[in-house]
Amino acid sequence: MQFTGAHILSIDQFSQDDVEHLFQVADAMEPFARRALRTRVLDGAILSNLFFEPSTRTRVSFGCAFNLLGGHVRETTEIKASSISKGESLYDTARVISGYSDIIAMRHPVAGSVEEFARASRVPVINAGDGPAEHPSQALLDLYTIRKELRIDGPLEKLRIAMVGDLKHGRTVHSLGKLLCLYRNIHFTLVSPRELAMPAYIVDLLRSKGHTVSETDSMEAGLHNCDTVYLTRIQEERFVNQAEADLYRGRFRLNQAIYTQHCKPNTVIMHPLPRDSRAEANELDNDLNQHPSLAIFRQTDNGVLVRMALFALTLGVADQVARHVEEVPWYTAKRFRNPPPL
Ligand code: CP
Repeated sequence: MQFTGAHILSIDQFSQDDVEHLFQVADAMEPFARRALRTRVLDGAILSNLFFEPSTRTRVSFGCAFNLLGGHVRETTEIKASSISKGESLYDTARVISGYSDIIAMRHPVAGSVEEFARASRVPVINAGDGPAEHPSQALLDLYTIRKELRIDGPLEKLRIAMVGDLKHGRTVHSLGKLLCLYRNIHFTLVSPRELAMPAYIVDLLRSKGHTVSETDSMEAGLHNCDTVYLTRIQEERFVNQAEADLYRGRFRLNQAIYTQHCKPNTVIMHPLPRDSRAEANELDNDLNQHPSLAIFRQTDNGVLVRMALFALTLGVADQVARHVEEVPWYTAKRFRNPPPL
């Protein structure tokens, strides 16, 4: 892929070489993310962060990533705070906002909406989640995390991953499944209620690329012998009504006892977050918070590195970052290197 000037809309755009290149740039961002150094390579550049659906980590980490490269961030959150609520089209919104910005990150509840927006944009657009369809930057940070957790330096092979929960509506598992397709001999165990199964086109894609896929509605069986368990929340905002979502909430729950009984030691525990910590859901219990294999907050930290790399590459400055480096004068806990105990 020619990164400079590209929209980042789907994992379908990426080759294995693109991913390797992105991860090398992400590795180089580490001193900036942990505040050992600062760079002003994007000084004067403007990111418009358009989040028309709730978000904590994607919105804030895109913003922080841009700030850490020296750029400035403008934000719109919620459709009701935007003139889309007055009937303005995505086309007009894109023409306007792209006139104000150098790059745009956008989340929207409708599948395909970010691509529609990007067609009218005069600057690169990054898909920060379009309905149940895709969340490419999340998949990239997830793969980056899997490799770090499993201490794999190059391309993955023979990974055994269990994906658990609402695989029908979960855009993160759609994008991660597609991304893992680029590698060899992956074993996918897809754990969900039958009604919330992974879309058939993704299962077919995984199999067509030579990977093995087993589907089950038993989490305990699905956990057997996996290297990584990737839990997801029931995406209740995608259901027609609350009562339907209630049927599935709490169906799958990982806690210390289940982990000890069914997972092999050191199985990496991942979740794109947010986890639903309400008692009736609780798909990832707090009693695993101190577990060394719980990678969920390393995932969120890695998201900053991967998003910095996406900005540096799409704006064509990945090889100029080091030329704009300064010392950091303020106190920093350097949390990326020596994280405090939780
Ligand atoms: N993982 C993720 O997309 O989280 P947010 O909804 O908080 O952005």
